[in-house]
Amino acid sequence: MAIERTFSIIKPDATARNLTGAINAMIEQAGLRIIGQKRVRITRQQAETFYSVHRERPFFKELVEFMISGPVVVQVLEGDNAIAKYRDVMGATDPAKAAANTIRKVHAKSIGENSAHGSDAPDTAAKEIAQFFAGNEIVG
Ligand code: CDP
Ligand code: MG
Repeated sequence: MAIERTFSIIKPDATARNLTGAINAMIEQAGLRIIGQKRVRITRQQAETFYSVHRERPFFKELVEFMISGPVVVQVLEGDNAIAKYRDVMGATDPAKAAANTIRKVHAKSIGENSAHGSDAPDTAAKEIAQFFAGNEIVG
């Protein structure tokens, strides 16, 4: 398996409930390394750009409002097969459908307020990392 990097966001519903450490523990227990991390408030423009693939979807406005409603923790994760592995650690988008012991099953409030984001492919991972991190903020 190849060593990959993926982009993660601990979303506002999770930071509000003081779950950054609990989620980071699940990430690290899965064998992923947190090689970049910062707590930020993202702007409306950043959120709209980040989720632009969903701009025509009925949930887009609500999603953007949610992502700017409080602090988030943006992260770069590294490890074997990191992109698919982190999707497994997060679980399905809808917590009701997520597997046991996944971030979303354990912590998410709803399909919208679902605690975590993870990139879905190598090209989106590279693009998402570049949106939020300068090269010298990632230390592998
Ligand atoms: O985050 P993931 O890749 O699993 O799901 P997505 O289909 O790319 O959707 C992005 C985000 O939009 C989700 O994580 C949810 O926060 C939100 N969403 C929503 O509010 N309602 C839906 N029916 C689907 C997604
Ligand atoms: Mg997605």
